[in-house]
Amino acid sequence: MNAARLYLSLHVFLSAGVLVHTFEPISTTVFIGVGLGTLGRTIYNYLHESCDSKWIAFNETGLEVDLERNLFGQHIASRIILKAVSGFMSNDNPKKPLVLSLHGWTGTGKNFVSQMIAENVYKEGMDSSFVHVFTSELHFPHLSHFDTYKSQLQQWIKGNVTNCARSMFIFDEMDKMHPGLIDSIKPYLDYYDKLDGVSYRKAIFIFLSNAGGEGIIETALDFWKAGRDREEIELNDLETALSLSVFNNRRSGLWHTSLIDKNLVDFFVPFLPLEYRHVVQCAMAEIKARDIQLDRGVAAQVAAQVARDVVYFPKSERVFSVKGCKTIASKLDYYA
Ligand SMILES: *[C@@H]1O[C@H](CO)[C@@H](O)[C@H](O)[C@H]1NC(C)=O
Ligand SMILES: *[C@@H]1O[C@H](CO)[C@@H](O)[C@H](O)[C@H]1NC(C)=O
Repeated sequence: MNAARLYLSLHVFLSAGVLVHTFEPISTTVFIGVGLGTLGRTIYNYLHESCDSKWIAFNETGLEVDLERNLFGQHIASRIILKAVSGFMSNDNPKKPLVLSLHGWTGTGKNFVSQMIAENVYKEGMDSSFVHVFTSELHFPHLSHFDTYKSQLQQWIKGNVTNCARSMFIFDEMDKMHPGLIDSIKPYLDYYDKLDGVSYRKAIFIFLSNAGGEGIIETALDFWKAGRDREEIELNDLETALSLSVFNNRRSGLWHTSLIDKNLVDFFVPFLPLEYRHVVQCAMAEIKARDIQLDRGVAAQVAAQVARDVVYFPKSERVFSVKGCKTIASKLDYYA
């Protein structure tokens, strides 16, 4: 740590009044003189995110409350996520990293759930330097650079896990990712004690994709047509649909099969398409989160208006929102 930085940290710390109140001026000086090294480190830790329990501490209640209050229409996903993350985080000696594969149509909450997990594991949430997001189109856009991407990605994962065992990697648009690139990260997901002296067992990998989305929609629509309650849909009902449609889709099928074959994915998490009432809930939550001062009745009216303005499918029945809750925030700008 350089001196200027320490001085700055110290200065901030002191002017915050944290220490000043507890010591006489003279002893403060002595204390600072003597304990500078230790104090410096303590202060540094206090102000800068580090890989310890002060900055990384799972809040199970927090995740539960977040899922309950802010994720709508996903009874299966919220149950699996809470169970999976809680189980993993409470295990001091996991046998492999936690690997979650989130599937479903756009706007159903996959990204949102990844954020919730990050926010309840890391004090800094998505801003944490231990959380890494990779998007195929952003990070790996050119097929011709495949070899570079591959070694870069491997280095990043290794480097970051070496820095902090509790690192989290989110891969967005997994179905657009080159299958070879996915192959290159497979070793890190596996049951190895250590690879090149690094243990990946405390890391979390989250894959997001639309793969299987159609199958999930079909099942949800079948239930709807049969007049059955959406909450009656169980994981079993979707597992078949999910794997079938995924295997039918050659491109996404590749990565999927290879990950399934080796049992590297711990949980496949389906996200159901959202109905009108869920879109209303999303709009209400957004109004509340923005602290827009509206009378409850007016807020409900605005939310209903926003939800009515969303496009639904199939064309004849108009059951599910085409973009889920994705455009709600911008629509709200328009109405509220
Ligand atoms: C955990 O989350 C709950 C619910 O959001 C919150 O009230 C509590 O303060 C959090 N605990 C910690 C240690 O951050
Ligand atoms: C960690 O990952 C990021 C990408 O999210 C990368 O830029 C960085 O170089 C990696 N750090 C190490 C030490 O490899």
